[in-house]
Amino acid sequence: MAATWTPETWRAKPVRQVPAYPDGNALKQVEETLGTYPPLVFAGEARQLRASLAQVAEGKAFLLQGGDCAESFAEFRADNIRDTFRVLLQMAVVLTYGASCPVVKVGRMAGQFAKPRSSDDETVDGVTLPSYRGDNVNGMDFTAEARTPDPERMLKAYTQSAATLNLLRAFAMGGYADLHEVHRWNLGFVERSPLGERYRELADRLSETLEFMAACGLTSETTPQIRETPFYTSHEALLLPFEQALTRVDSTSGDWYDVSAHMLWIGDRTRQPDGAHVEFLRGVKNPIGIKCGPSLDPDELIQLLDILNPTDIAGRITLICRMGADKVEAALPRLIRAVQRAGRKVVWSCDPMHGNTVKASNGFKTRPVDAILAEVRGFFAVHRAEGTHPGGVHFEMTGQDVTECIGGAQAITEARLADRYHTHCDPRLNASQSLELAFLLAEQLKQERSDLKRRAVAG
Ligand code: PEP
Ligand code: CO
Repeated sequence: MAATWTPETWRAKPVRQVPAYPDGNALKQVEETLGTYPPLVFAGEARQLRASLAQVAEGKAFLLQGGDCAESFAEFRADNIRDTFRVLLQMAVVLTYGASCPVVKVGRMAGQFAKPRSSDDETVDGVTLPSYRGDNVNGMDFTAEARTPDPERMLKAYTQSAATLNLLRAFAMGGYADLHEVHRWNLGFVERSPLGERYRELADRLSETLEFMAACGLTSETTPQIRETPFYTSHEALLLPFEQALTRVDSTSGDWYDVSAHMLWIGDRTRQPDGAHVEFLRGVKNPIGIKCGPSLDPDELIQLLDILNPTDIAGRITLICRMGADKVEAALPRLIRAVQRAGRKVVWSCDPMHGNTVKASNGFKTRPVDAILAEVRGFFAVHRAEGTHPGGVHFEMTGQDVTECIGGAQAITEARLADRYHTHCDPRLNASQSLELAFLLAEQLKQERSDLKRRAVAG
């Protein structure tokens, strides 16, 4: 029998990645204030997302999750939100066509502030200060003042999340997400990309399909599915005082939900089965992601599934694998086999970002687009060999034209990283790198589909 759960039972467990707040009373006051604030999402939406993810687990839909590594107060602008949302939609249209199935869209947006760090402190020129842990904890500037954790930042993060979500909802439902419009943006991209020729065929086929649908009477005016789209939010549930304050009983179901986002994930550094983060998330009914790095033991993964999803509800768990391009083919099969042996329903998603971070010779943290693509390809290959479904992808990306990841059709070099390196944490794909990956992935998904058909006919 599992022990009784309440939103604060995590406090009795060992907890990692905790900011050292200098004033416990100030923290408590902020927690109380946040506890009175309205939910950011409705529990019914989290249930809809869970149902959609259950479709992904069955191989009937595909998951696209993406957005900033870390949202920041400094980059909080309508055009930044719009551009990232737009690229996600553009990618989703291409993937929908490639996979011939619905694409579930989940942003790392409207709440992705807190960052786990490999060290509690940072030393520069002999001065040691607390590490930057995300804008909802402290500031990035290397001064004692900025680096001291300040609980008031949680209130600002809440407000920014609310405003971001409001705009995303308006875009998703108000006409901005119209399929025809999104496709027109994609045509513009194909036109401008140095490798545009490669994507033209797929884009042309999509144009024909849309024209055919319009001829049949399926237009933005007649069909809500063409002018609107469900869009969900997610972030790492790292800063537990914040998450606890936004955890409420849903009056419809009587269940607990963390209403700070639709989906929450547990990071690779905080997934200890007896730790505070797992304890917190086992009690809320939202869809949960688990980051799976190369150090995750298959038995421990099953233990996590037993704790977080004891009744094996489909769509509850997404395993976000972030192995690294050079490790995915060795490390992933044993996890897949353990899950298959245990007969558990999960969504398998590929995060090709966090296992492929390297330091450029000029000191910048970067990620080669080639390694990112190689990990996605390896992930697909392993699933094909194991007979399981590669359910989705998880990208750190932005709609801005940044220079943070090297490679891609724009051929960003190490020397150009300094041009527009704006991330508050890890390097993100820029708009055109993200779209290129979506086109390449769509080709892969199409191939996957025709292989499956061929096998079905042969078998
Ligand atoms: C992240 O997703 O930003 C992150 C820190 O990932 P991971 O826990 O997989 O390292
Ligand atoms: Co990151």
